[in-house]
Amino acid sequence: MRKKIVAGNWKMNMTPSQAVALCETLKPAVANSDAEVVFCVPAIDIVPVVKACEGTEIKVGAENLYFEDKGAFTGEISADMILDAGATYVIIGHSERRGYFGETDADVNKKAKKALEKGLNPIICCGESLEQREQGITFDWIRMQVKLMFEGFAAEDVAKCVVAYEPIWAIGTGKTATTEQAEEVCKAIRDCIREVYGNDTAEKVRIQYGGSVNAANAAELFSQPDIDGGLVGGASLKPDFGVITHA
Ligand code: 13P
Repeated sequence: MRKKIVAGNWKMNMTPSQAVALCETLKPAVANSDAEVVFCVPAIDIVPVVKACEGTEIKVGAENLYFEDKGAFTGEISADMILDAGATYVIIGHSERRGYFGETDADVNKKAKKALEKGLNPIICCGESLEQREQGITFDWIRMQVKLMFEGFAAEDVAKCVVAYEPIWAIGTGKTATTEQAEEVCKAIRDCIREVYGNDTAEKVRIQYGGSVNAANAAELFSQPDIDGGLVGGASLKPDFGVITHA
């Protein structure tokens, strides 16, 4: 049985002091969830959020990392920095990073490899644009993204990853994918992993849905056989997140 994982992606929100205040609000709301609960926060918030969440079950994650160990890469943060700050997860290849900051599938692959090498748990994102959905190439696109994110991975490493399916048209738009749309793509991701890495790996890997998840739609989405939780943007900054973690 896969343990559900519900992760908040705070994106570029919350100063360090706001972050600590939000943790105080969310801690009681997310307590006693059967799911693994992760707060993925801006780099500068990791240390205060880790401290604020001490003594709880909440895990903390970063929103990005760089694939080199260290050196002259101004503005980037490394896996060791994230780990030493106390986080255990990292989001990789979010569509906002791909779209605004030019991250390629090859970057995503290198970042995921580095995260695993260092013992960080990657949440690796994929998702189609509205144009791609309308062109009828959603499944081809997603299968390509999944194959490229895991290129050169051993099956046991794939099993340690979380894949987040986030249709770009559903992010921050209030336009959630229907339960059927979300499930069929998450199933396609699992099937693709099964084809390449075998049934054991496919049954172990956790697949999240993300895109306008809220307190009203989470339970139905997360009850689908191939959806093992969610990656939540806007609603992760509100007490509603507690409801979502208990969905
Ligand atoms: P929203 O939940 O705000 O649509 O954002 C989804 C997302 O991008 C999570 O990574």
